[in-house]
Amino acid sequence: MKKSSLLAVAALTGSAAVMLAGCAGGGTPTDGGDGGDGGGDAAGRACVILPDAASSPRWENFDRVYLQEGLEAAGFEVDIQNAQGNVNTYSTIADQQLTQGCGVMLLVDYQGAAEAVAADAKAEGIPVIAYDRPFAGADYYVSFDNVEVGRLQGQTVLNGLEAKGVAPADATVVYMGGDPTDGNAKMFHDGAVEVMEEAGITAAAEPPGVWDQAESQTNFEQALTSLNGQVDGVWAANDTNAAGVIKVLQDNNLQGVAVSGQDANVAGLQNILLGWQTATVYKPVADEAAAAVEVAIALLNGEEVETDAELEDGTPYIQVTPVLVGPEEVKDVIAAGDASFDDVCTPEVAAACEQYGVTE
Ligand code: GAL
Repeated sequence: MKKSSLLAVAALTGSAAVMLAGCAGGGTPTDGGDGGDGGGDAAGRACVILPDAASSPRWENFDRVYLQEGLEAAGFEVDIQNAQGNVNTYSTIADQQLTQGCGVMLLVDYQGAAEAVAADAKAEGIPVIAYDRPFAGADYYVSFDNVEVGRLQGQTVLNGLEAKGVAPADATVVYMGGDPTDGNAKMFHDGAVEVMEEAGITAAAEPPGVWDQAESQTNFEQALTSLNGQVDGVWAANDTNAAGVIKVLQDNNLQGVAVSGQDANVAGLQNILLGWQTATVYKPVADEAAAAVEVAIALLNGEEVETDAELEDGTPYIQVTPVLVGPEEVKDVIAAGDASFDDVCTPEVAAACEQYGVTE
């Protein structure tokens, strides 16, 4: 699965699309309100809940788009909604989706809200996929290898320190982790700390984990003050958090600090090109969405799914491989269609784009 080519996924999706389309034609619409125009067959409905918009632009810009496309191509009627960072909204959306009927649910957890939804879905016999973030009670967890994401972040900090000429054991490094209610945050932390500690780094400060740029900025500002304004590296668990950190570094004219990230956001890619961020961990969401679609089809067909690992609670785990992106690789993210040249290469960044061969 890890190595499965997009082609293989597409082929499987194609054949399943035929089966699902056949099923939708002969099935009985359960929502009763659309006059049986082909939509509304609960078995063919894929219900998806995204967590928020603030933690990362990925949810609205990529996950929504790739899941919509992939699930539709597989013959599902697709209902994707965003809980907008509110656990009450999360369960309201879930109730509405379950009332309309779902053949399968794909849930990105938000502060633990997915667990109760999964229990409700399972009580109705509806299979549940934990998409990107883990939670108890899902049939499958489809995500990236998240400990590896953390290791790549730890490596980023080491690379940045080396470029700065500071030995890891002597370096002042601040740890800026993700929201601990997100089960991925611990995996990112474990991987990053494993690599950094092996090289002799210990945390000089570690504010509470968040997924929020403004909070990250405030937390880092306080950490920096406690360190008398001296810092060599920052383990930032994603680009959103990194952006908050970088604002403080810029305000204090602290250049050349090693900073990690995740998600290959436009702001992250720009910070990398301009030398404010050492690298990001690029996670091709198209591959993650394709893997999830494949699992959704298999679940509906009662087929076995090949997995790569399992979570501690035994949930089978399908892992897509993350990619480290420094200035030289920014062009690859753009070529893959996961960031646009116009968004990244704005006038202030144009010279750096040229330097690193980022072209339209
Ligand atoms: C994680 C996700 C990351 C990042 C973060 C903040 O769970 O894997 O890609 O976006 O949430 O939303």
